[in-house]
Amino acid sequence: MRRDELDPLPYAEGYPSLLSVTGRVDIHSLAAKFLSDSRTQGAYLEFGVGKGRSAVSALRAYRRENVCDRYILCDSFEGLPELTGVDVGSRQFQRGDYAFDQPAVEAFLERYGVADAAPVSFVKGWFGPDTADEVTRALGDSPVAVIHVDVDLYESCNWVLQAVTRHVRPGVVMLFDDWNCFNASNRFGERRATAEWLNANPGFELNELSSYGWHGRAFVFDCL
Ligand SMILES: C[S@@+](CC[C@H](N)C(=O)[O-])C[C@H]1O[C@@H](n2cnc3c(N)ncnc32)[C@H](O)[C@@H]1O
Repeated sequence: MRRDELDPLPYAEGYPSLLSVTGRVDIHSLAAKFLSDSRTQGAYLEFGVGKGRSAVSALRAYRRENVCDRYILCDSFEGLPELTGVDVGSRQFQRGDYAFDQPAVEAFLERYGVADAAPVSFVKGWFGPDTADEVTRALGDSPVAVIHVDVDLYESCNWVLQAVTRHVRPGVVMLFDDWNCFNASNRFGERRATAEWLNANPGFELNELSSYGWHGRAFVFDCL
């Protein structure tokens, strides 16, 4: 039984189809169960926080399985950047979409009762060459368990993947919320950025865990 619309159903409790409209909520229960059974623990890294909806679901699901001890939420907190390069011409996204400032997100987490659930920290700024160091600072000594990429655009995803390159390790779950945006084309968006990242890092592999909703794809990272 869900407490509210952002409550992921526990994996063991009549688990629903992830391709349903609640897929983006429940994917975190699936990932939490995967991590728990494979004995992987660490931080939850989210890129693209919006209002905080996915952060609420994530905090609930990973905390329930006790797999993530800290939650690092990264965003401009000003919405999407100006579209450049291959992102120009998107019919779906434009500058300023999903603009929620950090106090609004903090209030949202509070409203859903997850603000005190576990250490939550924020990394504010445009994704770019400094993001890798900022994320490394925020992580401290913590290994990563989940990387949730919900940044819509190729350019943004490109920076995010560069930022996490030094933190990925076998067993880390990587969620790409916008895998099927841009007509599910491999030439745009998160698909393109991910393909380029894998090419640039020989030995890196992503093995599919699940699809969710019409849009998302979950993988498990591996490295030769
Ligand atoms: C679709 S929203 C995230 C929704 C959220 N994960 C949820 O499910 O509620 C996309 C977010 O990515 C952020 N974003 C995209 N590109 C960015 C960039 N280059 N730098 C910083 N933030 C970015 C936007 O500010 C926005 O909050």
